[in-house]
Amino acid sequence: MKYSALKGIQDILSPDIYIWQKIEDSAREVFKLYGFQEMRIPIIESTDIFVRSIGETTDIVEKEMYTFLDKAQRSITMRPEGTAPAVRCYVERHLYNMPAPQKFYYSGPMFRYERPQKGRFRQFYQIGVEAFGVSQPSIDAEIIIMLKRFLEVIGLNDVNFEINSIGCDKCRPDYKNSLLKFFEGKLADFCPDCQRRYNTNPLRILDCKVEKCIELRQGAPFVTEYLCSDCKEHFDQLISYLKLLHIPYALNPNLVRGLDYYTRTAFEVTSEHLGAQKAVAAGGRYDRLVEDFGGPPTPAIGFAIGMERIAALLKETWTKHYPTPKVFIATIGKEAETEGFRIAEDIRSHGLWAETNYGGASLKSQLRKADRIGAELVFIIGENELRAGKIQWKNLKDGQQGEISIEEIISMLSLSS
Ligand code: HAM
Repeated sequence: MKYSALKGIQDILSPDIYIWQKIEDSAREVFKLYGFQEMRIPIIESTDIFVRSIGETTDIVEKEMYTFLDKAQRSITMRPEGTAPAVRCYVERHLYNMPAPQKFYYSGPMFRYERPQKGRFRQFYQIGVEAFGVSQPSIDAEIIIMLKRFLEVIGLNDVNFEINSIGCDKCRPDYKNSLLKFFEGKLADFCPDCQRRYNTNPLRILDCKVEKCIELRQGAPFVTEYLCSDCKEHFDQLISYLKLLHIPYALNPNLVRGLDYYTRTAFEVTSEHLGAQKAVAAGGRYDRLVEDFGGPPTPAIGFAIGMERIAALLKETWTKHYPTPKVFIATIGKEAETEGFRIAEDIRSHGLWAETNYGGASLKSQLRKADRIGAELVFIIGENELRAGKIQWKNLKDGQQGEISIEEIISMLSLSS
């Protein structure tokens, strides 16, 4: 029997895993500067949590959720995203009683039964942030700038920030009507998905990727022309904050997002080096959701970063920085092997990565291994050396070599580390 991972689900191994760890560490460091605390949210939740928040007629809820009945016949869903569980936690734990804003981040796997392709997986990882309790646009700007800072720290400068405002409950119905009117006469020419969206979620027609639909929607009204005065002022202020800090952005009036909970600010960060799945991070404001979940009216905003896509962009740049062992101890004979075992542990107790021979291998194959795993130094312990209390060393990076006494090993390593 030959087993394989499920379609659209991958293992993440060395050396890629180092990129992942670097991304996670950098996110933690940067988010700390803005006061975000980690929250660990469950992978499974009650299905209604996602249906109510993401929206019954969205692609995620209609076709992509991993939903099952548990042994007590409750409908359970493996989280397709983190915002809904974060809001559930915020309300359930009465976190609105704490001083606002409450700022959180989370990371981990999400599950969507999508058609797998480059950059799109059925189990994928996000790092998400959510800030609760501030309606002012300064926090919208703050988290966009935080995202930019994080991307800069990991070395991703070549990305585009696209922003939009999709209005609120007051102004969006008018906009929806104007869209319906615009699409009405041409509906038969749109793709079947858009024809369905016309009745369920007409805004989504604006981000359909089908060529024919892109042409047909030319000239459609822009949401920004329909914003009420409050939403317009909010959006204008967000833009002025971005300008204040010289953050480059592009206004994209077709940016509507695929989840129903958004109000006002919506944004996406895209890269031209990724092919069709080019969004590396996305988010927006969701001022109604906490109330929908039974909490007090609480404005909120957040975003999530797609780990696979960021890791793919960093692969080229970071291959040089994978951690490698400081020392490989090659040994000849049983006694030397035991001494190698002891020395390796001594080196590790000084905080350096040491590898040694576990027995059996010829010197030649040990040296080949040291080279393959990228060790910086090789120590060679043979019977003669052992008797004289000496070892041979060779620096595999610059070719230098020599002999030192066993007592000198640690001082030599601390000098060269
Ligand atoms: P989202 O746009 O659905 O938003 O996902 C955010 C990011 O996750 C995307 O930009 C993309 O990088 C990555 N992503 C999504 N689906 C996949 C997939 N199938 N394979 C690989 N990567 C994927 C949300 O999930 C919202 N919860 C973000 C948010 C937080 N809004 C407010 N707070």
